[in-house]
Amino acid sequence: MRTLNVALGDRAYPIHIGPGVLDDAGLIRPFLRTARVAIVTNDVVGPLYLARLQRALEADGVRVDVVTLPDGESHKNWQTLNLVFDMLLATRCERSTTLIALGGGVVGDMAGFAAATYQRGMPFIQVPTTLLSQVDSSVGGKTAINHPLGKNMIGAFYQPRVVLADTATLDTLPDRELKAGLAEVIKYGLIRDPALFDWLEAHIERVLAREPEALAFAIERSCANKAEVVAADETEQGERALLNLGHTFGHAIETGMGYGNWLHGEAVAAGTMMAAELSRRLGWLTAAEVARIEALHVRAGLPVLGPPLPVATYLELMANDKKVEEGRLRLVLLRSIGKAVLHAGAAPDLIGASIEARCG
Ligand code: NAD
Ligand code: GLY
Repeated sequence: MRTLNVALGDRAYPIHIGPGVLDDAGLIRPFLRTARVAIVTNDVVGPLYLARLQRALEADGVRVDVVTLPDGESHKNWQTLNLVFDMLLATRCERSTTLIALGGGVVGDMAGFAAATYQRGMPFIQVPTTLLSQVDSSVGGKTAINHPLGKNMIGAFYQPRVVLADTATLDTLPDRELKAGLAEVIKYGLIRDPALFDWLEAHIERVLAREPEALAFAIERSCANKAEVVAADETEQGERALLNLGHTFGHAIETGMGYGNWLHGEAVAAGTMMAAELSRRLGWLTAAEVARIEALHVRAGLPVLGPPLPVATYLELMANDKKVEEGRLRLVLLRSIGKAVLHAGAAPDLIGASIEARCG
């Protein structure tokens, strides 16, 4: 097991990464305010991992209540969130009860939002079970649900007390989901860690083959990058926005195609290629750099073209982005491989042409 730390002062928390951490109630117990937890999971992850987590906690004298949500991004909404509140109220969970998210980013984001708002805030723990949630969404305290007009538009910043990333749970993850998670790993390389990008170019097939050492390296390095950024800019006043490379285009793809049809990581991959294309048109990336970025995504089995939505639809959906300020779209773009910037000055025509060149 490896442990990293998210340095947020008196709200600092550990990220434990390794096989089998799910069974170790000793990693959770010190963070419980009372001997009571409520677990939020879904109908895919629950049958695989709930009994183990529940057994470990109950053996340690902890009362466990559970709510099992329907699986999928299409359920990341008010109606499903309300199922969590129904369970918390029906079982008389208290403000001191700890909420545990067991699942991927969808469960984690929804459970986190429920924890942020139930009785104005209850303690929260993340047990992420997808590559994407282990490298990104379980760390940093962004919680949210979707709105039909925009992705993750309703939410809160609310940090977990501890993150347990059990790498052995990835054994059951479908290949398509593993690849989607890689999009966020590539992202860290592109925005701030060129050595990670080089490492991925050398070793991506080992990650795809789920070699434990390669997976562990990718997860640890990603979490280290995320923890540094979050510690420096918890509520996204500046640097944290760079973690959204490809996301403004990607969220438009997810919303425009209907939630769940394009996986988040797939949409981010295609969106990253649009951002790279725009960066090239601004004279920042060379054609050779764009080709390198594309080649790595192709090797990861990720899409490098977005769906053929009209450009006007992309632009309309992108206007709902959370980085829009005073009506102006701000995009994360690349100065080079390993250096991202937040840029508000790209002309709509240029943005549209970059989308056009990268969808179809
Ligand atoms: P997901 O939660 O939908 O999980 C993907 C699929 O894998 C689901 O069907 C899930 O049930 C299944 N699954 C989960 N763990 C499994 C396992 N171990 N074995 C077999 N199947 C398993 O998707 P995701 O990619 O984990 O997360 C995407 C979500 O995360 C999006 O909603 C996105 O907006 C959000 N996100 C949030 C942040 C953040 O900072 N909060 C960052 C990135 C993404
Ligand atoms: N996934 C983007 C962020 O956490 O800021």
